[in-house]
Order: sequence, then structure tokens, then C-alpha cells
Amino acid sequence: SWTAKSFIESTIEEIREKVGDDRVICGLSGGVDSTVVATLVHEAIGDQLQCIFVDNGVLRKNEFQDVLDIYEDQLHLPVKGIDASDKFLERLKGVVDPEMKRITIGETFIEVFDEAIAHDDSYKYLAQGTLYPDVIESISFKGPSATIKSHHNVGGLPEEMNLDLIEPVRELFKDEVRNVGRELGIPEHFIKRHPFPGPGLAIRIISDVDRPKLDILREADDIFISELRKNDLYDEVWQALAVLLPVQSVGVMGDERTYEFTIGLRAVTSVDGMTADWAHLPHPFLAHVSNRIINEVRGINRVVYDISSKPPSTIEWE
Ligand code: XMP
Repeated sequence: SWTAKSFIESTIEEIREKVGDDRVICGLSGGVDSTVVATLVHEAIGDQLQCIFVDNGVLRKNEFQDVLDIYEDQLHLPVKGIDASDKFLERLKGVVDPEMKRITIGETFIEVFDEAIAHDDSYKYLAQGTLYPDVIESISFKGPSATIKSHHNVGGLPEEMNLDLIEPVRELFKDEVRNVGRELGIPEHFIKRHPFPGPGLAIRIISDVDRPKLDILREADDIFISELRKNDLYDEVWQALAVLLPVQSVGVMGDERTYEFTIGLRAVTSVDGMTADWAHLPHPFLAHVSNRIINEVRGINRVVYDISSKPPSTIEWE
């Protein structure tokens, strides 16, 4: 029967055999999946692995530096951090369509990644944290015209890159990946991080993306997530997020009328992300988070809580 331990042993052996003396490049996202993959590959081939962690400009508050520190100081992964936020935000300017946001971010990521290894043709493999549900959603949800969402870490590799794929967790679900991560000694607070989409906060701003909107969303998200942690609710939900709605509504502040944006909060329970129920978070908790966001985040005068389940309502709003 399947155990994380035997999976790790056989996978490390397979990677070693496949890679031989060649070198492997791995894009880290800050998430559990890519971190587990990088750690597996690192165990297998040591410094024949090089990891890259890109700041795409749509990460959460302090995330780039915090996660980079964990990679280096706690996980001892060979990682290079690249701040490409200007380039991403330039490309995202004026893009409203969710699918276009994904494509733009996916293409820019490949470009940045490609540049980072351009002077070095010793890389033969690309290691990726593709999960089973990613594979399923990308393959089987084909509508009349296109896939519902193009998960940018599936099949996004251009032919010209000439890299063969290593996808050791391609047949696993998230909970299995987490168990593998635990067995590999990845710290528990990292293992339990909620999933975060590759296109990041770009698909949580329900309009075009710019720095002022990102700043607003980052603050609101940070309040929501840190309050979940403080109240021991973070581990109770599969994923929690804030979205910035382009809807302005009227508020009063003292004698003044305000006309400001709305934050939507969403928290869901799920086993694999394929279906999800909205989380019945305690009302006093929601009230507290709402008050904090409205009082502390300039530009927000209204907070709503999403009570929709998947299907049909996807976890993300875009
Ligand atoms: P949805 O919104 O489809 O999300 O219910 C299911 C899970 O996938 C994440 N997600 C993405 N992850 N690239 C990613 O890497 C994407 O384009 C993307 N879209 C959604 C979402 O956060 C949830 O965990």
C-alpha cells in the first residue's frame, strides 16, 4: 500500500536514474507542491538542482522575502530569487479578462525563467509541482472552445526550451503531497499553507491590475489571513482569500460621504479543491475582520462574505 516513505524512496531512485549527471531547474512558487518537488529532487541529486523563485508582482504581503528566507535558511535549497515584478505589472496593464491575465502571467513567467537560464545550456530537465487535480482540470474540462482555466503550470512549457519534464507528484492529491512533505521534514506551518494560484492576486482583482489596487488587496488579505491564524481557524479551512471588487458603494464617515471599493472574503472547506463548501466561520470573527479591514484599509468601505459553493462557484472569483 501507498506510504509517503516508500513513495519518497522510489521517487528519489527514479529521479537519480533519470537525471544521471545532468542538471535540473525548478521554479518555486512558495507553495507546498513545488517545494515538495524541489526537496525531493534535491535529496536525489543535490546541487545538480537549481531553483528559481520569481517575484511576479502579484504575491501577497511580504511573501517574496519571507518565503525566500525559508527556502534558504530552513530548507537549504539552492535557490535564486528574481524580482521581476516591474515586468509582470507592465505586461498586466489594462488586462481585464481572467484568461488573458493567466496567459500573460504564464508567458511572462516563461520569459523570465528562460532569461535566468539563458547563459547556461547545461540544464536538461525542468521539475514541476503538477498535481493530479491540475492534470484533470486542464484535460477534461474542455468546453466548446477552450479549457475552463488554463492552469499555467500544466503544459505551459514551450518546445524551444528543450527541457524534459520531471513531475514527481503528478499522480498525487494535495493531502498526499502534504504527507510527503512532512516525511521530508518540511516545517508544519509551511506544509499547511493554503493553496495559492500561480496568477496570484491578479485573479483576485476583479478588474485591471495596478499597484494601488494590489496594495489595498494585500492589506485586506493580510488582515484576514493573520486573524484566521490568530483565532486558530486557518487550519480549519482549505483556502481563504480576499478579492477586490471593482464595485464602489456609498458609506458615511463622520459628516462625509465616501464612495469606495468593496472587499469580498471567501473561505472554503474542501478535500481536493475540485468541489468546495463555503466555510461557516463564526459571525463574531467575520465581524472583527470586517471592522479591521474597513478601519485600516484605505479605499475600502464595505466587506462582503461569499456564501457560494463549488460547483458551480469556483474557489477563485476569476
Ligand atoms: P477554482 O477557482 O478553479 O480553483 O475552484 C481550484 C484551486 O486551484 C487554484 N487555482 C489556480 N492555481 N493557477 C494555479 O496554479 C491558476 O490559474 C489557478 N486558478 C485556480 C485555486 O486557488 C484553488 O486552490
